[in-house]
Amino acid sequence: MKVIIGSDHAATDVKPALISYLESEGYEVTDVGTYTADSCDYPVYADRLCKRIQSGEFERGILICGTGIGISIAANKHKGIFAALCTDEFTAEMCRLHNGANIVCMGARVTTLDTMKKICNIFLTSEPLAEPRHERRRDELKALDNGTFDEADFK
Ligand code: RB5
Repeated sequence: MKVIIGSDHAATDVKPALISYLESEGYEVTDVGTYTADSCDYPVYADRLCKRIQSGEFERGILICGTGIGISIAANKHKGIFAALCTDEFTAEMCRLHNGANIVCMGARVTTLDTMKKICNIFLTSEPLAEPRHERRRDELKALDNGTFDEADFK
C-alpha cells in the first residue's frame, strides 16, 4: 500500500524512524516534508498532504506535529478529509472502525516512537465497520463535510 506522511519540525527526529519502520512493513512511503529541524508552519504540510489525498493519489495519510492538534485542525479544514488525532492503539482502532478516518495525526511531543508505530500499524490495517449505526454516523460526517447535513435525513 502507498501511504503519504507529513510533519512540521517537531517530528524531525521521529519521522525518519517511523518511515523506515513503515517501509520495513512493506509500505511505499511518500514524505511531503518538512525535511529539516528549522521552525516551520504545520498548516503548510497538512495542506500538501491533504491535496494529494483529495486528488485520489493516496487513500490514507499520516500527519505529525508537536501535539498533533494543530496539524489535525488544519487537515480537517479540507473537504473529504477526516483526520483523527490518536494517542494510543485504542483511538487508532476506533478512528478507523467507527469514524472511517483517512488521516491519522500524532504528537511527537506527546507520543513515543514505539506507540506511533503501533498506531500507524492499526490505522493502516483496519477497515470501517459495516454496522448500520456506524455507517449512519459516517454518512452524517460526510453530510457535514458537504454542507448538506440535516438531522431529519438521518431519522
Ligand atoms: C510547534 O512548536 C508546535 O506548535 C506544533 O508542532 C504543534 O504542536 C501545533 O499544534
